[in-house]
Amino acid sequence: MELKDALRARHSVRVFSNEPVDESVVRELIEYATLAPSTFNLQPWHFHVATGASRDAINQVIAQTTQYLREYVDKIGPEAVDMAARFYADLGGAPVVIGISAPVIQDELIDSNNICLSIGACIENFLLLAMEAGLGACNLSVPEWVASDLMETFGVPEGRALISIMILGVPDEVPVEHEHQSDVITWLR
Ligand SMILES: Cc1cc2nc3c(=O)[nH]c(=O)nc-3n(C[C@H](O)[C@H](O)[C@H](O)COP(=O)(O)O)c2cc1C
Repeated sequence: MELKDALRARHSVRVFSNEPVDESVVRELIEYATLAPSTFNLQPWHFHVATGASRDAINQVIAQTTQYLREYVDKIGPEAVDMAARFYADLGGAPVVIGISAPVIQDELIDSNNICLSIGACIENFLLLAMEAGLGACNLSVPEWVASDLMETFGVPEGRALISIMILGVPDEVPVEHEHQSDVITWLR
């Protein structure tokens, strides 16, 4: 697939069939995703890949998010809370749930912003590669309320932070098309 076509075709997938994903496929996705650019070429990413019982344990922690979200019902509305509750309950049935961690660095030159940007580049690679492999994926924010429980369950070691979560599997939905903003440039001539 041409790169531009791939960029247009990529969408977040949140509903999956119950087919498993081969470990070798996940390894290959990660191998190529980690060719991404990174600040000072630090390659700060580490992938904590959860399948089977480990995946279910992670899901249980994420599902606790719903009770905290309910406190924001006035802000986001009951429908959004219910949708989130349904999704967090089983993560769309995704057979693979991946935590992406990075080192916590306190340095004048390397700030956490640049570490996160590096992880973001890696995530976009991963999402495109997953699509090319006939899989679907969605990047998830780490819910602050359960972040430390998630770190523990993913086994993120001391000195690293959990930056993001990725769910992966065989898609079982036609993802939603979004309008894309076009007014995104200011030319300085
Ligand atoms: C940094 C980041 C965090 C995201 N967090 C979530 C999330 O917590 N839950 C979720 O369902 N989708 C999450 N997404 C997916 C976005 O909602 C999705 O990319 C956006 O709506 C555009 O849709 P598309 O990916 O299909 O183009 C996240 C995406 C990014 C890049």
